Amino acid sequence: MNRIQQAEEALKKAGKKVNHRYRMGYHMMPRANWINDPNGLIQYKGEYHVFYQHHPYDENWGPMHWGHLKSRDLIHWEHLPIALAPGDAFDESGCFSGSAVEYNGDLALIYTGHNMIDEEKDDFYQNQNIAVSKDGIVFEKMKENPVIAEPPEDSARHFRDPKVWRHHENWYMVVGNSSKENVGRVILYRSPNLVDWEYVGVLAQSDGNLGFMWECPDFFELDGKHVLLISPQGIEADGDSYQNLYQTGYLIGDYDEETNEFVHGSFKELDHGHDFYAVQTLLDDKGRRIAIGWMDMWESEMPTKADGWSGALTLPRELTLRDDHKILMNPVEETKLLRKTEHRVCANRSLSGSYLAKTAEELLEVKVVFDIADCSAQTAGVRIRGLEKEETIIRYSLTDQKLTLDCSASGKERDGVRNVQIEAGEKLSLRLFIDRSSIEVFANHGEATMTSRIYPKEGRLGIELFSEKGDARVEEFTYWVLKDIWKGDESLE
Ligand code: FRU
Repeated sequence: MNRIQQAEEALKKAGKKVNHRYRMGYHMMPRANWINDPNGLIQYKGEYHVFYQHHPYDENWGPMHWGHLKSRDLIHWEHLPIALAPGDAFDESGCFSGSAVEYNGDLALIYTGHNMIDEEKDDFYQNQNIAVSKDGIVFEKMKENPVIAEPPEDSARHFRDPKVWRHHENWYMVVGNSSKENVGRVILYRSPNLVDWEYVGVLAQSDGNLGFMWECPDFFELDGKHVLLISPQGIEADGDSYQNLYQTGYLIGDYDEETNEFVHGSFKELDHGHDFYAVQTLLDDKGRRIAIGWMDMWESEMPTKADGWSGALTLPRELTLRDDHKILMNPVEETKLLRKTEHRVCANRSLSGSYLAKTAEELLEVKVVFDIADCSAQTAGVRIRGLEKEETIIRYSLTDQKLTLDCSASGKERDGVRNVQIEAGEKLSLRLFIDRSSIEVFANHGEATMTSRIYPKEGRLGIELFSEKGDARVEEFTYWVLKDIWKGDESLE
């Protein structure tokens, strides 16, 4: 048996033991055991492919493989066999994160080889490699690997997560890196043929406040501007900002190809919940820039480990740019395919205290619009997934103009609140996506998003609107019961 077959066997066995209480209904997740970053996002021959960091042998992180999912519509996903297994001379200890491109009609994955030298001292080296597939399912590692054997001279050993794209006659690659002085940065390479790479230089680096290592870079044009997405490690918490162990965010500005100069503004977090990291994007044939993140955080509590699996990916989200160069993030249009039944609970009504929509459904989309201009309340919001001891609260303070996601009673020991400033103006619109163990909040059409895992016990359900210290005007309160896309998936039974 080869390494991929072995891993597939292990997954089949592990899949039989998975406890379903927190299994996702419409999010990407593993058949069993561990996943982290999304990798290799691409629309290839009309289908969307999502690969991901995967340890098929255990519910904890370990030697990284690449798991594989594909979809025609970004909503209904199909598990495919594992695409990459580690263990060759150049990727001895892991096939770390990377990206995908169409290469002479084939599907090529560009990934980091992780190679342990001394586990106890955490001494390792990392390089960049390529694997190619003719059918989009079975991948062969190139004989030229590693295509980039080592980082530039002034670099520390962190050298990973290549994102590759084509522009005019050349291929380009950004890589996450750390300088010898432990300054987080992104470096750029160029190649005429995807195999021979020339180092161009540093694209951007920390000004001293943005951490020691920048993971999972992505660099693209969005509505005439250049965006560098990064997942920095080592940023200090600062008020409501940078509350998670690591962050994902962006620098936005203008890029001069001739000089490799990227003039950009300050770092902004892309999401404000507890669980959002290692985001990557793809450009699809409709011209949409679609982002997907890992919906967890390193070192966080993951109760599903006890159930034989851990890790999920966010809904695919479309990125657009507002006039003031703020990135807006909204679920892709296709998310509407998930809607089974629509419940228009109320419209244009005054709310004083609370109003409960009883439902025993677990997979929900909820839309609530508060008419802020017509509210005397100090706070207004929504309570979900609990009626007694448990609850997850989305609360807007009209006095502070702060949106809060309160997960302190959502079934986890450690998670508390996350806040984001949002000047709602006349209206606050909340679009919530609730799955068995996650919530994604899209506020005011993507101006702020908050993404977190929650672990409520079964049987505590319902959607409750509330106003505190005054009345609130509810312009709309609608919910949809969503489909379970995994029901009937043989690979999960
Ligand atoms: C980000 C990351 C990447 C790395 C991968 C390993 O979460 O640390 O930098 O390639 O995960 O699984």
